[in-house]
Amino acid sequence: MKLSLLSLAAAGLVSLGNLVQASVPPVHVDGRYFWNKNGTRFFIKGIAYQPDSNGDEKYVDPLADKSTCERDVKYLKELSVNTIRVYSVNSSSNHDDCMKIFDDNGIYVLSDLSSPDVSINGKDPSWSVDLFKHYTDVVDSLAPYNNVLGFIAGNEVVQNVNNTDAAAFVKAAVRDVKQYIVNSGHRQIPVGYSTNDEQETRVPMSHYFDCGDKADIVDFYGINIYEWCGDSSIHSSGYDERTKEFQNYTVPVFFSEFGCIQVRPRKFTEVKALFSDEMTDVWSGGVAYEYFQAANKYGVVSVSGDSVSTLTDFPHLSSMYASVQPSPTQSSSMSLTSSGQSCAATQKAWKAATDLPPTPSEDVCECMDKTRQCVVADGVDSSDYGDLFSYVCTKIDCDAISANGTAPGKYGSFSYCDSKQKLNYVLDAYYQQKGGCDFKGSASSVSAASATGACKSYLSAAGSSGTKPISVTPDANAVSKGNGTDNMSSTYGGGGSNGKNGTTSGHQKSAASTSINTNALVALVSMVVGGVAVLCI
Ligand SMILES: *[C@@H]1O[C@H](CO)[C@@H](O)[C@H](O)[C@H]1NC(C)=O
Ligand SMILES: *[C@@H]1O[C@H](CO)[C@@H](O)[C@H](O)[C@H]1NC(C)=O
Ligand SMILES: *[C@@H]1O[C@H](CO)[C@@H](O)[C@H](O)[C@H]1NC(C)=O
Ligand SMILES: *[C@@H]1O[C@H](CO)[C@@H](O)[C@H](O)[C@H]1NC(C)=O
Ligand SMILES: *[C@@H]1O[C@H](CO)[C@@H](O)[C@H](O)[C@H]1NC(C)=O
Ligand SMILES: *[C@@H]1O[C@H](CO)[C@@H](O)[C@H](O)[C@H]1NC(C)=O
Ligand SMILES: *[C@@H]1O[C@H](CO)[C@@H](O)[C@H](O)[C@H]1NC(C)=O
Ligand SMILES: *[C@@H]1O[C@H](CO)[C@@H](O)[C@H](O)[C@H]1NC(C)=O
Repeated sequence: MKLSLLSLAAAGLVSLGNLVQASVPPVHVDGRYFWNKNGTRFFIKGIAYQPDSNGDEKYVDPLADKSTCERDVKYLKELSVNTIRVYSVNSSSNHDDCMKIFDDNGIYVLSDLSSPDVSINGKDPSWSVDLFKHYTDVVDSLAPYNNVLGFIAGNEVVQNVNNTDAAAFVKAAVRDVKQYIVNSGHRQIPVGYSTNDEQETRVPMSHYFDCGDKADIVDFYGINIYEWCGDSSIHSSGYDERTKEFQNYTVPVFFSEFGCIQVRPRKFTEVKALFSDEMTDVWSGGVAYEYFQAANKYGVVSVSGDSVSTLTDFPHLSSMYASVQPSPTQSSSMSLTSSGQSCAATQKAWKAATDLPPTPSEDVCECMDKTRQCVVADGVDSSDYGDLFSYVCTKIDCDAISANGTAPGKYGSFSYCDSKQKLNYVLDAYYQQKGGCDFKGSASSVSAASATGACKSYLSAAGSSGTKPISVTPDANAVSKGNGTDNMSSTYGGGGSNGKNGTTSGHQKSAASTSINTNALVALVSMVVGGVAVLCI
């Protein structure tokens, strides 16, 4: 069932003025390729677009400032790019203006979901309530826009053979964000991973993200690849090997970064190879690294205030992108013969568990927390939690709050909770097992809430060891409660609206989605017309 905009317009409820401007239809994934709406393949001619933050955690959101997007869009057009990759966006900011500027110019956005301060840490990986919330906040803030191409759930999280366990947490993130998008009624925007290109792990890693349960695999896979330097060739760059490796991949693959700087100027001759018949059966284009000149000198422009100067590499990338027009023969009816990769680790280098970390649930953590009798005392600084954990966890078993992504994979029932909740769990466990709730004044006894209803069943599922799986209803798993679609605040701010203006922008959102579920429509329409649902079948 679809909402008929015309019927709303006829009823005088919608101005169609702004709808006409939205120029790009959503691109979707089917099998191993991206597709345009008209059934032709979509190839990424992309560039990384994230201003340098000098390593600071206070990054600049590249989609939040209309004037910078206006400043840059003509250069992006001159580069012939159809996609920008952004690494960190702030879900509290309004993205209407920039998304519209890019949409009007036929530019799609691939957005990472993490930020410098909130990401899956490859050295100490976790998939937590806090991370899940951050990821879904970014999803909610960008999902309404037609020109969002995909979400990237992690970038180079696994570095090499020494931290392949981190992949289990990334795969759990992919699984949960995919399910969140389904539950929240957003458009089915694909969710993938972007990997480094490390020789020992590259093949087993690519298999890992495309094996097993379909609900867990990536919707696309990107490689940050810097193998083609200067005037290389498909053979000497190793592109031929990489292409063979992905011969049976079941989802789209592309270069999520490319552009070696060992030979300067960069002529970007790899673009010709990437878009040639030798590669387009497997690859769906790539993202050049990068637009802004920063300390590492990969930029194609330098920016100072309002002014942009193109650098030496700019015309080379521009003419390469302009010159390639892949004309593949695939059509959307093409059936895929491969059924995915095998999860059996083919190489010793790969240790990540196929059994994934649980879906973080705030409800479970709150339930566990409020039922503790011995908790960290008020006034203990979170910087002292580490010492308390170290002390308690040498005395008792802390499996309930630990997560280990090395095969076979072992995840405590409360491993995704925040550090205060986890500390409360272990202090209380110590108290229950050994008595005494003082810890030199760092803990205090409280009257615990009794566990009832769902909370009671969570705790009994976790068992006395706190290591058994807890199943949670989808509603409780959706960390940002509410449907996503019933929130009118994050839509195109056409007509001078700042996006917070309920009625006007709400309609545009319905236009931005090609199909949204009926529940979402009921919510949408009832907000718009005050409870009178206007639906057409
Ligand atoms: C299909 O759509 C794409 C993107 O809008 C466009 O570039 C292309 O020319 C279209 N092709 C056909 C055959 O209509
Ligand atoms: C995100 O935006 C909000 C509101 O504009 C601001 O308060 C916050 O500091 C921003 N966060 C980051 C990490 O820049
Ligand atoms: C992995 O760790 C081992 C032991 O610490 C070290 O010798 C090796 O160099 C590391 N490998 C890589 C690729 O960093
Ligand atoms: C792809 O599948 C074919 C047929 O099953 C097989 O012969 C080939 O080895 C596979 N290639 C890769 C890279 O897995
Ligand atoms: C994680 O699990 C693996 C496999 O069971 C084990 O070898 C390793 O010691 C565990 N790591 C920690 C920190 O417990
Ligand atoms: C989602 O929306 C439907 C229909 O409005 C509503 O019944 C359901 O309770 C909502 N779910 C959440 C988690 O708010
Ligand atoms: C909608 O989003 C705004 C701003 O992010 C937030 O304040 C509000 O609580 C949200 N409303 C719902 C129903 O989720
Ligand atoms: C909301 O829309 C009304 C009517 O179009 C307009 O008068 C008002 O200024 C808008 N408010 C905001 C915050 O944009």
